Amino acid sequence: MNAEIATTLERLEAEDISPSIGSRVHLDKQALLSGEYASQLRDLLEQRGVLVFPKINFTDEEQVAFTETIGNFLPEMEGQKVYNISLDKEKNPKSDYLKGSLYWHIDGTMNKKPIGAAILSSKVLPTWGGNTEFCNTYAAWEQLPDEDKQRIENLKVMHSAWTSLLYYDPEPSYEKLEEMMSLGEVELPLVWNHRSGRKSLVLGCTAHHVIGMDPSESARLLTRLRAWATQPKFVYSHEWSVGDAVMWDNTGTLHRAMPYDPDCGRLLHRTKTAGEEPIQ
Ligand SMILES: [Fe+2]
Repeated sequence: MNAEIATTLERLEAEDISPSIGSRVHLDKQALLSGEYASQLRDLLEQRGVLVFPKINFTDEEQVAFTETIGNFLPEMEGQKVYNISLDKEKNPKSDYLKGSLYWHIDGTMNKKPIGAAILSSKVLPTWGGNTEFCNTYAAWEQLPDEDKQRIENLKVMHSAWTSLLYYDPEPSYEKLEEMMSLGEVELPLVWNHRSGRKSLVLGCTAHHVIGMDPSESARLLTRLRAWATQPKFVYSHEWSVGDAVMWDNTGTLHRAMPYDPDCGRLLHRTKTAGEEPIQ
């Protein structure tokens, strides 16, 4: 660990969770809301992928205020500031859409600029399951063998919402498939060249095929890279306590929810910041 990182960790009262991903931050709520540590939190987030604030107990207003210190606050499409993540239709009428979140993904690959940071707060625990898992796609790229890096560096991949539909509804109605196809498709680089100069892998359940590659070769490559990026050394699995907040860098990680009882009322509140750069 270099001296600069050690100083940052000390100032943020933070500790690393594992070598490749995640830090726990023990600053108190007042310190987080003051904005005084925001730029260091952003830097640490970019380095570590995930920051955990154990039992910080943000109210919605506080979570919004904290998110505003991290970046440009991005409300939901319907205008509300806080999104209910729940399979309970009373808490989230569009909960079907969340079924795709059980598979590794980046939020907003279909948008010009995927969201930047996202913050989840736990309100109601599941009766079983329901961890949220993250993997560090910067670290996964950095530790790839050189021959893989050279092979994949300039490849492009078709992403779509309908591809993720087939993960959670493998035999959809024709109408459902058409509805999801109407959301479009995008070609994205397999390796994201960030403006910082760092690189990360762009994978997940929206990735359909590598452009111009034989279909079985493409499936092999995307599956092998996803398995590589989500191996235990690059993954942090967060087991929730009520009041925990977890922030992740959506541009340098994949995430997923682990299965849980859909009737248990598990509830997380999410806020997010606008993305600052397209995948390029
Ligand atoms: Fe997500």
